Amino acid sequence: MRRTATLWGATLSVTVAMTGAALFAQAPARFGFGRPATPQEIAAIDSDVMPDGRGLPPGRGTSAEGAVIYAAKCAQCHGKTGTEGPNDILVGREPRTGFVFAQNPELPHTIGNYWPYATTVFDYVRRAMPPTAPGSLTNDEVYALTAFLLHANELIAANAVMDQSTLAQVVMPARQYFVPESRPAPPKPRP
Ligand code: HEC
Repeated sequence: MRRTATLWGATLSVTVAMTGAALFAQAPARFGFGRPATPQEIAAIDSDVMPDGRGLPPGRGTSAEGAVIYAAKCAQCHGKTGTEGPNDILVGREPRTGFVFAQNPELPHTIGNYWPYATTVFDYVRRAMPPTAPGSLTNDEVYALTAFLLHANELIAANAVMDQSTLAQVVMPARQYFVPESRPAPPKPRP
């Protein structure tokens, strides 16, 4: 019984492989839709900022500048002070000790209580916000919004200027709860 099942499985996979190969042989080299991305389109999303600040662009901004932009472009979804919603809560430091998210799933994850790197705020906001027009903010605007959010989370002084060098120096309260990946890199995907 087992032998039959094994044989049947082997036959099936050979058949599937042959059908796949036959279909592949018939496939046209191009399907006639889509187009290569332009260098400008690639540049707009090729903007990774690393945790240590590598990749941060020139520019600067303060919390006061960010408050104006936040009120115009962010508050409708994240609330007047970043604590009201309706979308993700961005501001909050409680609890100030421990990392109790597993014990208390209701606790909102915020920049102030959960994010390990300040540079990620810049990267994420520049890349993804506002969701209706990602990539539309200037670097100065993103620095200002980052300063606003960090100050609202009591992580920088009201008059601190965020730029290429100061942002990477902001120490986040949750930093200590994250460890670098210690396993070896996964194998490369098969071609
Ligand atoms: C139209 C509603 C909307 C607007 C406007 C908007 N956001 Fe968001 N924002 C969201 C949603 C929805 C998410 C969650 C996205 C997800 O989880 O994929 C989010 C997530 C975020 C996060 C990550 C929160 C976290 O802890 O994971 C940050 C930071 C953020 N927004 C900042 C901003 C800033 C700054 C602006 C203004 C430039 C802005 N958002 C404007 C809807 C909005």
